[in-house]
Amino acid sequence: MAQSSQRRPVRKAVFPVAGMGTRFLPATKAIPKEMLPIIDRPLIQYAVDEAREAGIEQLIFVTGRGKTAIVEHFDMAFELETTMAEREKSLAVLEPTRIQPGNLVAVRQQVPLGLGHAIWCARAIVGDEPFAIFLPDELMIANRGSTGCMKQMVEAYDEVGGNLISVLEVPREEVSSYGVIDPGAAQGALTEVRGLVEKPRREEAPSNLIISGRYILQPEVMRVLERQEKGAGGEIQLTDAMAQMIGTQPFHAVTFAGKRYDCGSKLGFVEATLALALARDDMAEDVRAMAARLLDQGS
Ligand code: UTP
Repeated sequence: MAQSSQRRPVRKAVFPVAGMGTRFLPATKAIPKEMLPIIDRPLIQYAVDEAREAGIEQLIFVTGRGKTAIVEHFDMAFELETTMAEREKSLAVLEPTRIQPGNLVAVRQQVPLGLGHAIWCARAIVGDEPFAIFLPDELMIANRGSTGCMKQMVEAYDEVGGNLISVLEVPREEVSSYGVIDPGAAQGALTEVRGLVEKPRREEAPSNLIISGRYILQPEVMRVLERQEKGAGGEIQLTDAMAQMIGTQPFHAVTFAGKRYDCGSKLGFVEATLALALARDDMAEDVRAMAARLLDQGS
């Protein structure tokens, strides 16, 4: 497997959050999709927690109109904190929302021209170093005892450098809904990537390893995105830009030891809510009883 001499640490992460969230309208008319909560934390918080666990220092949000709540969520809420302190309420619950001053940067994507374009909007802040990307509507929950998805990727990056994408195995009949990798040599969770195919027909799919919403990319991808070439749906696609990097730099996939919930879809959102509630000691028993009652009433 190719070894890379480029092993600069991954310190920065881009969170593209400028999409319109049309699948969740009208809920997302005034509230960003990324602020929809799974139980008691908004989606964006899960992604930021995963980033911090992986050692990411600087968070770069690519936002758009109507997305200010995301930045506010990570700002200090002085009045709220003062009032809570006066009432002797614990502030520990706000701890995950605290970001060191200067470690959160927001850039605007003025028109939602696609995911690739959103990433390109962060180019001046990313600069000349490798960076992570998180799609916050994909909730990645690691298997019990495993580290989070991005930490798994950073560990793989320390071994091979270059570019990495997170992948998951799905049943063959599901591949046509996703981006799929054309795999080369594999070793443990690492697989060399020879190509990327967007939504292949089942019989033509080169594998059943689908691309999920976590990436570590080298800054050269910005030069490819700079060309602003439009792909599927007339949008500037990140997958197209990554495909052009293959062969010029090491490119690997990391099979995620965990489960991905597509919280950009209604069913995925409900599944994530149930799964996380059932995984919580303070809720599992009640949720189980509630579900049994509801199923009983429905039959
Ligand atoms: P999606 O297509 O899943 O998100 O984009 P969306 O456009 O918000 O949702 P729907 O399909 O209309 O319901 C994947 C990610 O890329 C971001 C989105 O915010 C999401 O995190 N994105 C997409 C941008 O930031 N800008 C874009 O132009 C497109």
